[in-house]
Amino acid sequence: MPNSARKLIVIVTRKLPDVVETRMRELFDARLNVDDMPMTRAELTEALKIADVLVPTVTDHIDRAVISQAGPQLRLIANFGTGVDNIDLDTARNRGITITNTPGVLTEDTADMTMALILAVPRRLAEGATYLKNAQNHWGGWSPTWMLGHRIYGKRLGIVGMGRIGQAVARRAKAFGLQIHYHNRRRLSQAIEKELEATYWESLDQMLTRVDIVSINCPHTPGTYHLLSARRLKLLKPSAYIVNTARGEVIDENELARLIEAGAIAGAGLDVFEHEPAVNPKILNSDRVVALPHMSSATIEGRIDMGEKVIINIKTFLDGHTPPDRVHAAML
Ligand code: 8YV
Repeated sequence: MPNSARKLIVIVTRKLPDVVETRMRELFDARLNVDDMPMTRAELTEALKIADVLVPTVTDHIDRAVISQAGPQLRLIANFGTGVDNIDLDTARNRGITITNTPGVLTEDTADMTMALILAVPRRLAEGATYLKNAQNHWGGWSPTWMLGHRIYGKRLGIVGMGRIGQAVARRAKAFGLQIHYHNRRRLSQAIEKELEATYWESLDQMLTRVDIVSINCPHTPGTYHLLSARRLKLLKPSAYIVNTARGEVIDENELARLIEAGAIAGAGLDVFEHEPAVNPKILNSDRVVALPHMSSATIEGRIDMGEKVIINIKTFLDGHTPPDRVHAAML
């Protein structure tokens, strides 16, 4: 445990809500990033040489090379985010560095935005909104065959990854009259399946051939990288839509763009991308894609809750206890 006589150096890589930063300043020797300029690789490496605790986000790639240069005082990486795919967990563990994240507090916000995309893409919401803005009061008026989308009521939703967020999506989707199908490493309890009226597919391939909308809600791990590979994307019906609010790396983005362009997939609602912040131009330019800048969890309430979790994780760790949101390799 680091020397308790001095305040611990906690380096925060991005600007956090004021209330979170104020509390961090009170508790720790907090080195904040008030300008919110993403740290370069060199800056991150330097930070790890002096930090007792690092608080990174999804935009910081804490890979093997970066962690390998950390000083011996670095004991905790308290991620501001639920996904920990930005951190090389094995290297951190081998160096005795504890990792924590912020699960739970983003569930409802992320599920809300997932549902928004499930509605927006088949119903051409973005096209309609853009049309009216561009028309600048020259809209010719309503027509019976114009701006027709597809009904979602009664359609089959296939959820890939039925953890907290997947289940929260299922609850919303059920209320909208969608039939819930899911693929997950572990089958849910009978009670939850019954509540959600959910059909379990052990085979992802089989589920993909049968659903109308796919929602990606699993974490990005070595096991889920390109889970929706070129081969699997081709299993989808040409009328199917894909929604992704999890991680871009779970889908082969190039192939998705190509299949949408070719009309082999009807469209996509994407909040995350394989090479953020870069987005495949084919995706950006497609009027059959609603693309958002990784904002599914972006609520003021959610960010403050995340900050509180980070602080509790750091405090608990420094007090010599296991932090509540410690990430274990077996969880992934
Ligand atoms: C966060 C997310 O905004 O928590 C996650 O895993 O994907 C986000 O919605 C981001 O990761 C913060 O680091």
